[in-house]
Amino acid sequence: MTQKLLREDFQVIGIDNMNSYYDILLKENRLKSLKENENFKFYKINLEDKDSLKKIFQVYKFDIVLNLAAQAGVRYSAKNPSAYYDSNIVGFLNVIGLSKDFSSKFIYASSSSVYGAEINIPYRESIKKVSPLSLYGITKKVNEDIADFFHSEFKFKSYGLRFFSVYGPFGRPDMAYYKFSESIRRGHPITVYNRGLMSRDMTFIDDICDGILNAIGLDINAHEIFNLGNSHPIKLNYLINFLENFFNKKATINFEESQEEVMHTFADISKSKKILGFSPKVSFEDGMEIFLKWFCNYYSFNE
Ligand SMILES: NC(=O)c1ccc[n+]([C@@H]2O[C@H](COP(=O)([O-])OP(=O)(O)OC[C@H]3O[C@@H](n4cnc5c(N)ncnc54)[C@H](O)[C@@H]3O)[C@@H](O)[C@H]2O)c1
Repeated sequence: MTQKLLREDFQVIGIDNMNSYYDILLKENRLKSLKENENFKFYKINLEDKDSLKKIFQVYKFDIVLNLAAQAGVRYSAKNPSAYYDSNIVGFLNVIGLSKDFSSKFIYASSSSVYGAEINIPYRESIKKVSPLSLYGITKKVNEDIADFFHSEFKFKSYGLRFFSVYGPFGRPDMAYYKFSESIRRGHPITVYNRGLMSRDMTFIDDICDGILNAIGLDINAHEIFNLGNSHPIKLNYLINFLENFFNKKATINFEESQEEVMHTFADISKSKKILGFSPKVSFEDGMEIFLKWFCNYYSFNE
């Protein structure tokens, strides 16, 4: 996203605590090329550290605050709940509070995980009562409730973007598409939940970045939620077949059952289309080709 903002001539101040939830080298390599741009500055700060955060907000007086930092991952949230509380609740409260005091627009990443147990697909933002199935999903729902409160109490406008399984170059190594690529390439077994019958509305990173950029350009005095998904769910078994064909290797699969994982995600994007002008362009097949090209290139240089 930062690359895109810099290409669009924004000045960007990046904040991240560079935690070790996954390979820090990947995070550092992402930063390396950004740091070459004179319109980018980086601060290694914890969102929970309000005093340090406040100093940055006082110096820069941001036009727009975009909060993508969070403890991500559905399954890890049952193993390490406090990481989610610290980053996604305390950290989020600090960022939205400082944004209200020092800025005029706040955009943040929510997640398809808030829909949780919802069985009516495609998921619409207008669904009144959602029941997330994971602690991660709960923290994202709490973020939305906090943003609602900030609008009703302080008239502070913000837009929450519910991302659906974002994938692409420099993506997150804990996600299924990335882990499966790594394991199938190396001939290692993969763990597949719920017999591979689940589907995910996989959305290519460039489409998500376009959606975020459109949200930056939006000016509605409200707290609004938007789905950013591809609206074309992909079955897990189809993803596995695709990778088997690409690497020309048969996957060794261990099946497991999981309650935390929702069976299907599928975004209704009619609201995002209408209000944000959001229109995803990259098919799963094209997006995965781009990811896999990057993946093979990146690891042959760094192994
Ligand atoms: N990737 C997806 O499919 C997806 C789907 C739905 C929602 N999201 C949300 O989108 C956002 C970006 O996700 P991502 O996949 O790029 O994840 P990511 O883990 O790559 O990026 C999040 C960054 O936040 C940083 N961070 C975490 N806690 C922090 C803290 N307390 N202080 C400062 N920095 C902290 C991490 O170091 C990391 O670099 C997250 O909010 C995530 O919950 C992602």
